[in-house]
Amino acid sequence: KPGRPGRKELLGFAPVPPSSADTFTVPEGYETQVLIPWGTPIRPGGPAWRKDGSNTAEEQAEQIGMNHDGMHFFPLGRGSEGNRRGMLVLNHEYIDAQLLYPDGDEEMTAEKVRKALEAHGVSAVEIESVDGRWRVVDSPRARRVTGNTPVTFSGPVRADHPALRASGPARGTLNNCAHGFTPWGTYLTCEENWNGYFGTEDTSWRPTAEQARYGVSARGFGYRWHLADPRFDVAVNANELNRFGWVVEIDPMDPRSVPVKRTALGRIKHEGITLTESRGRIVGYTGDDQDGDYIYKFVGEGTWRSQRARGRSPLDHGRLYVARFDDDGTGTWLPLVHGEGPLTKKNGWADQTDVLLRTRQAADALGATKMDRPEWIAVNPRNKDVYCALTNGSGWEGEANPRTPNPYGHIIRWAEAKGDNTATTFRWDIFVLAGDPAYDDRVKLDDSNIFGSPDGLWFDDDGRLWIQTDISNSAQNLVARGYDRIANNMMLAADPRTGEIRRFLTGPRGCEITGVVTTPDRRTMFVNVQHPGEASAAWGRPTPENPRAVSNWPDFDPAGRPRSATVVIRRTDGGVIGG
Ligand code: FEO
Ligand code: CA
Ligand code: CA
Ligand code: CA
Repeated sequence: KPGRPGRKELLGFAPVPPSSADTFTVPEGYETQVLIPWGTPIRPGGPAWRKDGSNTAEEQAEQIGMNHDGMHFFPLGRGSEGNRRGMLVLNHEYIDAQLLYPDGDEEMTAEKVRKALEAHGVSAVEIESVDGRWRVVDSPRARRVTGNTPVTFSGPVRADHPALRASGPARGTLNNCAHGFTPWGTYLTCEENWNGYFGTEDTSWRPTAEQARYGVSARGFGYRWHLADPRFDVAVNANELNRFGWVVEIDPMDPRSVPVKRTALGRIKHEGITLTESRGRIVGYTGDDQDGDYIYKFVGEGTWRSQRARGRSPLDHGRLYVARFDDDGTGTWLPLVHGEGPLTKKNGWADQTDVLLRTRQAADALGATKMDRPEWIAVNPRNKDVYCALTNGSGWEGEANPRTPNPYGHIIRWAEAKGDNTATTFRWDIFVLAGDPAYDDRVKLDDSNIFGSPDGLWFDDDGRLWIQTDISNSAQNLVARGYDRIANNMMLAADPRTGEIRRFLTGPRGCEITGVVTTPDRRTMFVNVQHPGEASAAWGRPTPENPRAVSNWPDFDPAGRPRSATVVIRRTDGGVIGG
């Protein structure tokens, strides 16, 4: 059974109330510092941020990207030095054209596409703490990986696979949502809503079944990059699509290393990837964030150390599975392996590369369980239970998605058979049903912890589960959906043994809270604020019905613009965060 009881108190702070203020609020006894907002040069002395959006694409390539998301801290130096110095590596998910350019994007130009590409991807900056204040230092390791960076492919779908042949060499990573990291010291960035960047004006173009399954359309998400850059025109450069939807490995210590797309992990809209080890083998969990899509697991072949000793990546060889949750509380991992089950030549599956390029359709064929938008996945370091945030959705199949529709989301968890994360069966339960009991009496939460739309999940080494929320601003502004008392997005901490949950922080208006990590001593925490002021342009000035639309965080400069940023959190007494 998941969630065995324990003794020591994990949560030692007083919960903060819900907030609709344009501030970042932490519990009493904690202090904060804003670090690396969008546009900060990745090396001191680099191009300065211009608050009117007039930085060029070349300048953006040397600055922190937009819309901070998943993040990891790689300590540098010996022993305790790693609590004061390290590489902070973080994702930049997407762009807001109203903020990125001085004049919006009504007119699309090649320079605007270039700047948008440079604002995506990953930032790696070296940071250090001096007297409790953190700052970016001039570092030879600092780098940006963007939508323009040369990349390569490894695993079953190799770089020379015909499906990856498109106009120009393979470049870039896009829609970098959540992340992962490996025991051999690398960073993993995950490509989520990559389909939205592509489009075409060709009225005769129709998506293939595979393209339609990934949501590729002539309009895309309205970015209209294809008007100025044929790379993103699906009618003329369709194989460019196949270069996205992967997990990408980056060495944060070598700025000259080429990012590698690890194709054995499947091609979906990866929210993130969370690695753990079982009997020396790598196990990776990854969610496909779409309403009605699936949860996947990768199990490495052999131990990861033996793979590396042979000069192979532990992420290139292994079995990919997709989850089926049965109503009796058990579950099964179904193998996405060519030649097994329905994935045969006779059924139109050419080989394993075909299975991986069309991962979603292969999972459909296996009868996996459709879920309410699988987001981050976290593994409890104490007992290896696995937790997945199902942010919200239509209320898909079975008891694993128990509310129909499901505007608030829930967190599901499972224990793999015999505590072995490589197992092919598991037992699951619902850890928490999110929402506000004022609107749904099945919700067992109160003012100290009502929340909705869980997204980020992360365990610290003490076993605290950190829960971050992503309530969309349209939902946030609709009393009818029951979000009015929950208000701004937040982060909470949970004790997985007792189920106790407390609200730890609230973000400014219009933001989402996503990305969290601490230094090894757990005395400095880094949290990302994404898209403060989102939808301000659409929602206009605040009104009584729409009180949360406008943010100018963190600069509060009337002539400036809201910026995503990392927030450093410390306890004034220097103690463990959350304890
Ligand atoms: Fe990018 Fe599913 O959040
Ligand atoms: Ca997310
Ligand atoms: Ca989300
Ligand atoms: Ca987001």
